[in-house]
Amino acid sequence: MTRIAAIVPAAGRGERLGLPVPKALLQVGGLSLVEHAVAGLVRAGVDVVVVAAPADTVDDVRRLVPLATVVTGGADRCESVRLALDAIPADVDVVLVHDAARPFGSEDVVRRVVDALQAGASAVIPVVPVADTVKRVDRNGVVVETIDRATLRAVQTPQGFRRDVLVAAHESQNATVTDDAALVEAMGIEVQTVDGDARAFKVTTPWDFSVAEALWERGNQ
Ligand code: C5P
Repeated sequence: MTRIAAIVPAAGRGERLGLPVPKALLQVGGLSLVEHAVAGLVRAGVDVVVVAAPADTVDDVRRLVPLATVVTGGADRCESVRLALDAIPADVDVVLVHDAARPFGSEDVVRRVVDALQAGASAVIPVVPVADTVKRVDRNGVVVETIDRATLRAVQTPQGFRRDVLVAAHESQNATVTDDAALVEAMGIEVQTVDGDARAFKVTTPWDFSVAEALWERGNQ
């Protein structure tokens, strides 16, 4: 049987929210974002969860998510993932990486990602269509080109990897990327996509927080 681990990078400071508390500890419906994220992964059948937390909150996070192993995170998301990878037991074959800042909607997504890995994929990412027209602009804000929206996807987490592929990707590069699949792509390994879920959006701004609260209150999480 495949043993599945999930890494939850939760060591960001959430500066875009303009708050003194790490974003993963902010609450929606009485539970912190990291608690929601871990609970979703456990409900989806993940066997092992490793959370990377800011150094000064490791003890707090341990109390909040007693089912998880909690390690001290790094200077950027990539380093946090790398440190969490080191704490994953040897018998795990599949590793998911899931942002703490995505409290909802992960259960069905986990199943689609894991199914694709079990069908033979090395790396799988959940994606959603892009609703807005997207343009590339120069540094003066002048439009350079319009990108064909039909070829674009917005990428969510949990992203899933064969363990050996994720380890190799993180060993091979030190680039600061915004997702783990980018490291795998850079190695020339095919990354498959599966359908994401609108509810798995990332809480980044105060607006996102209001949306998360509204979803929670309506039981739509
Ligand atoms: O900043 P952003 O929302 O893109 O961060 C994505 C995820 O990476 C968040 O869950 C955040 O807590 C995590 N992160 C981390 N270590 C850092 C920076 C971000 O675990 N040093």
